[in-house]
Amino acid sequence: MEIATPRLIIRDIRADDTDALAYTKEDKYSYHKATRPHPEDRLDIEIARNVISMSEKPQRFWSLVIALKETQTVIGSIRIYTSPASPSIGEIGFDLNEIYWRKDYTTEAVRAVTAYCHDILKMHRVSIRADVNNIASWRVAEKAGMQYEGIARYDFRTWQGFIPEMKIYASVRPELIAA
Ligand SMILES: CC(C)(COP(=O)(O)OP(=O)(O)OC[C@H]1O[C@@H](n2cnc3c(N)ncnc32)[C@H](O)[C@@H]1OP(=O)(O)O)[C@@H](O)C(=O)NCCC(=O)NCCS
Repeated sequence: MEIATPRLIIRDIRADDTDALAYTKEDKYSYHKATRPHPEDRLDIEIARNVISMSEKPQRFWSLVIALKETQTVIGSIRIYTSPASPSIGEIGFDLNEIYWRKDYTTEAVRAVTAYCHDILKMHRVSIRADVNNIASWRVAEKAGMQYEGIARYDFRTWQGFIPEMKIYASVRPELIAA
């Protein structure tokens, strides 16, 4: 899949993206680091998982990169997961190379991916879970227009253990719930 925004291209992850995504080894909140102690192994699995998921009907997982439209430089990644309960419930996770932080890039990407989830994938609910201490992460959810729903306690596990408090944000379109 591919989504274009004013400044960005959001597209499926590819094998030649691994060097650009090496930054994920450094950040304490990054998904690749958070889910596995050896993130250099993780990207291969991630790419393979995305290829397999593309053959599923309906597709239940998307691993995407965020690239600058002008140069095609990969600056971050963004993933969509669906709930085991229903493919019309989605969750978004993301990270960005620190060089590009605080330029509104992630907000722009999340806004576009959320709209894609509703309009194209027909998801009625799209959410973000963010560690209460990870201000940048939940600010992105707020700036992208999601509604704050509350705190989930010990709801998300990283390889270092459970996160005590996660803020939950969601964009909900009840009219998309299939009859
Ligand atoms: C979360 C992350 C992707 C945000 O990327 P970004 O492109 O810088 O986000 P944006 O520029 O769109 O918005 C970030 C907002 O958080 C704010 N922010 C960032 N760090 C902050 C801090 N320490 N204190 C207060 N506000 C902070 C920014 O100022 C901005 O809000 P503003 O526009 O109101 O000023 C990036 O910080 C990152 O990759 N972090 C590591 C991985 C991660 O945490 N992923 C999320 C897991 S759910």
